[in-house]
Amino acid sequence: MILVTGGTGLVGAHLLLHLTEIEEEVSAIYRNSAKIELTKKLFAANNKSSFFERIKWLEADILDIPSLEDAFAGIDFVYHCAALITFDPKDEDKLRKTNIEGTANIVNLCIDFNVKKLCYVSSIAALGDLKEQETEVTEESEWNPEVFHSDYAISKHGAEMEVWRGYQEGLNVVIVNPGVIFGSMIWKEGSGAFFTKIKNGFPFYSKGSTGYVGVNDVVKVMIQLMKSDVTGERFALVAENISFDKIIFSIAEKLKVKKPSFEAKPWMTSIAWRIDAVISFIFRKKRSISKFAANSLHSKEIISNSKIKNALNYNFQSIDNVLDEIIKNQ
Ligand SMILES: NC(=O)c1ccc[n+]([C@@H]2O[C@H](COP(=O)([O-])OP(=O)(O)OC[C@H]3O[C@@H](n4cnc5c(N)ncnc54)[C@H](OP(=O)(O)O)[C@@H]3O)[C@@H](O)[C@H]2O)c1
Repeated sequence: MILVTGGTGLVGAHLLLHLTEIEEEVSAIYRNSAKIELTKKLFAANNKSSFFERIKWLEADILDIPSLEDAFAGIDFVYHCAALITFDPKDEDKLRKTNIEGTANIVNLCIDFNVKKLCYVSSIAALGDLKEQETEVTEESEWNPEVFHSDYAISKHGAEMEVWRGYQEGLNVVIVNPGVIFGSMIWKEGSGAFFTKIKNGFPFYSKGSTGYVGVNDVVKVMIQLMKSDVTGERFALVAENISFDKIIFSIAEKLKVKKPSFEAKPWMTSIAWRIDAVISFIFRKKRSISKFAANSLHSKEIISNSKIKNALNYNFQSIDNVLDEIIKNQ
């Protein structure tokens, strides 16, 4: 039997959508029953409501070992998608706890319950850093603690360390490192918020770039890797590396809204995050732009997808197609 964590989130819900087509029963954990409705909506939007009944929902928190122990009974394969995603520096402790300690709990239970294989969803943020002369970030890129990383990236790197520890202790593991994931707008955070901001007339663009991937590609690759003999490996999942101006203009065009007209230059974002930090401190407001976000708007790292393409002979859906599908189904 399969267990999915994070089944009420963007990746976990799409994974359940694909897994229930090929499995009679899949277990998934939840914390808040209201959030299950999002997953149910996704099944309905894909005309797969009957498959939703194949999910056995169990209430558990990845930070609460007794509740997790109940969920692990009879489980052979675990997909660990649950995580906290935030770039607010105030969330550092919560990030470390949920992403590192939560993943350590999952790894320990996989070992205790003799789970056959674990798939962990990491991020390109945890891939590592370019050395001088290098042009592409790959699965082999080394993490350089001297380089500035967001708290989120540090927490995902720490979580990967827990997964590698599990591998050393005999657990079969595979890690995927997706870029920014585009998927159903049922989830309002993450890339969903990206669409909403552009729809509401977001005025800025920048020239930095990053890697993007459609959620269906992410979960299809996860399933294929879990069914393969691959173990002890990680794979960057990026369909394309695209500049922010190109992706923002493309979404604006597809949504038929005005394209942003102000280029946010590095000196502007560097002032913006400092002012935002002061405002947030004085008025106890949630941060709007962190130092990490300000820097990454101008970063031009290219992430290689050669390893997964060669390992599975996999072809990613183009981001243009992914965006068209999302906008058609919004
Ligand atoms: N979205 C992206 O662009 C992106 C890119 C690269 C990597 N990733 C990685 O992909 C994975 C899935 O991301 P996502 O976009 O699906 O995130 P999401 O939509 O925010 O979903 C997060 C999921 O984790 C669950 N969760 C959080 N804390 C938990 C806890 N303590 N115990 C149990 N469940 C908990 C949430 O449950 P509740 O519903 O109860 O809150 C939710 O189901 C994460 O590991 C993330 O780091 C995401």
